[in-house]
Amino acid sequence: MAEMSFSSRLLALIGILTTLTSCDTIPWQEKKLKHEATTLNSSELSSIVAHTDLDRMWQKDLKSMLVVRYPGSAGSQQVQQHIKSTLSLLKAGWDVTEDSFYANTPYGQLPFTNIIATLNPTAKRQLVLACHYDSKYYPPQWDGREFLGAIDSAVPCSMILELSRAQDDELKTLKNSGSDLSLQLLFFDGEEALYQWTSEDSLYGSRHLAHKMATASHPPEATNTSQLDSIDLFVLLDLIGGPNPRFGNQFSSTTRWLSRLRNIERRLHALGQLENHPNEVQYFWPGLHVGLILDDHIPFLNRGVRILHLISTPFPAVWHTFDDNEENLDQTSISNLNKILQVFVLEYLNKKSPENQVVEGS
Ligand SMILES: *[C@@H]1O[C@H](CO)[C@@H](O)[C@H](O)[C@H]1NC(C)=O
Ligand SMILES: *[C@@H]1O[C@H](CO)[C@@H](O)[C@H](O)[C@H]1NC(C)=O
Ligand SMILES: [Zn+2]
Repeated sequence: MAEMSFSSRLLALIGILTTLTSCDTIPWQEKKLKHEATTLNSSELSSIVAHTDLDRMWQKDLKSMLVVRYPGSAGSQQVQQHIKSTLSLLKAGWDVTEDSFYANTPYGQLPFTNIIATLNPTAKRQLVLACHYDSKYYPPQWDGREFLGAIDSAVPCSMILELSRAQDDELKTLKNSGSDLSLQLLFFDGEEALYQWTSEDSLYGSRHLAHKMATASHPPEATNTSQLDSIDLFVLLDLIGGPNPRFGNQFSSTTRWLSRLRNIERRLHALGQLENHPNEVQYFWPGLHVGLILDDHIPFLNRGVRILHLISTPFPAVWHTFDDNEENLDQTSISNLNKILQVFVLEYLNKKSPENQVVEGS
């Protein structure tokens, strides 16, 4: 075993101090309610943002995902393989598992597979980023046109993969720090209705996984907490990639996190890091109330999980049409949102350079 570097010894020491000084009267599953994110300074923000690369995401992830990939299709297998191999090649050392099952659909029994990637499975608390990787099924009667679901949801899933690649070093350090707060990525299958949206014909993957997590103890020896308690915040990305995205507010319980995204948008704007972004705030609107939208968060919401639903409202014009393809994507807003999301995640996870880390008081 190699000699520990000075910074990893420092991190280990900080870990011990944090354990000794943190307030043990708050049960871990309630810490999410009081969680405070770090605010990174301008040089730290610039260095984080410099790690992300839209062209790389486009070539590596988006091109791989823009195939017909409804549940059980060959394209679905191909995309699952892409997600798993991308994450397993990273230095951070993701724990990647599958939740595979069969479900009855209007077209008979079909196979479904959710992919779950966890940076540190022993961490009690997880910030969750989620997307659906399946594409909506259209029967082959449309003059050979294929539905590729670029905004729905090849771009959101690509953004999550790019985040894990761009911030690989930071996430590796976080994992090695032994922090009790970590990151989990969920790639759902079967979000789309196969025939027509009903409570039975939709959300196949998220319904299955929410039930499974509700019945799995976390930590493994716990008697009264489940894997759902481990979710600090469930951030669901959907319908992202069109021009002029606007994210409104569906849940008062997470308004402060939507406000934080708005604050990050403002800070990156001030640093000149956002392209084609004339006003300091264009995307995140915590004061704009929008009605409940049915999506993969619903089975989690119904079990008490706190949700941040990042879905463009009104839905982009190409939604569920054959024009939801690569040509109609808006590159600059995707690039800007990648930057904002990556800062959000690192700040939420309190990923600061060691010498700057504040020991959590009681
Ligand atoms: C930002 O924080 C880093 C430590 O993480 C520090 O070295 C640097 O001087 C700070 N920069 C500014 C502009 O405050
Ligand atoms: C859960 O169990 C732990 C110890 O096993 C106990 O301290 C705690 O009060 C329990 N919480 C609830 C909500 O029952
Ligand atoms: Zn859809």
